[in-house]
Amino acid sequence: MDIESILKDLEQLPPFPTVVAQALTLLDSPDSSAMDVVKVVQYDQAITANVLKVCNSAYFGLPGKVSSLREAVIRLGNKQLKEIILTGTVVKYYKNAMEGYALSKHDLWKHAISTAIISRIISKRFPGVDEGAVFTAGLLHDVGKTILDSVVDEYFNQMFALVGEKGYSFTEAEQEVLGLDHAEIGARMGELWGFPKEIVHAIRFHHAPPEGDESDLVTQVVYLGNVICLMLGIGVGRQGLHVRGRDEILEQHGMDINDLQVIMAGFLDEYQKVQDIIDLG
Ligand SMILES: [Fe+2]
Ligand SMILES: [Fe+2]
Repeated sequence: MDIESILKDLEQLPPFPTVVAQALTLLDSPDSSAMDVVKVVQYDQAITANVLKVCNSAYFGLPGKVSSLREAVIRLGNKQLKEIILTGTVVKYYKNAMEGYALSKHDLWKHAISTAIISRIISKRFPGVDEGAVFTAGLLHDVGKTILDSVVDEYFNQMFALVGEKGYSFTEAEQEVLGLDHAEIGARMGELWGFPKEIVHAIRFHHAPPEGDESDLVTQVVYLGNVICLMLGIGVGRQGLHVRGRDEILEQHGMDINDLQVIMAGFLDEYQKVQDIIDLG
């Protein structure tokens, strides 16, 4: 398979919306005010409508109805607002069915949002990690699949043979047959879109965090979040064909089946609430 032709597909990628990029930068800056954010976002109807909808949902349970963007921005706080804007933007890329990965419509989205939620829950075990970055990276970790899907579909028999007969993981089969895997292509999308370095790093290494690089907690947490999500079978498709070393990974991080149950309970609770506010239409 010719890597160049896969990379050509990257050139067709729509640019990351400028308004969203500006809003996210402002929300990260300690010097910007709520009004600065409102000024940037107010002319984008889709973002405004989404922020108001989420703000008035049972998920936040805010008393009284929030009727203006300004009020929403003030009441939600930067962290939550960032999550809402980013989630609303990313969902568009994830919505289609993917033949190559045998994911039906919305499956990859379910997997992405579930990995984000689980990663955020796990991040409580890693003092000092930036929870917001963990959520964002969790949401975006498999974004490369949206580009690779058609190629995987075309070369599936070859990949399946490696997985079935030679014990390759699905990601290893991608590397062998296509020349690069969905993690690498996702990282390149992140670079093109100007995502922060730690997010790009977490996307690139979400299947294999570099050994000895304990400093990069976001990557570690998302790696673990993705493994747990695959174990729970959420939006897995063909990726679930073979995942390497699952039990050891839990053990390495001092977790056992009881911890998994606690994480699962927290996840189900949160996922239920999120379902009410995410429009999958
Ligand atoms: Fe992945
Ligand atoms: Fe994943």
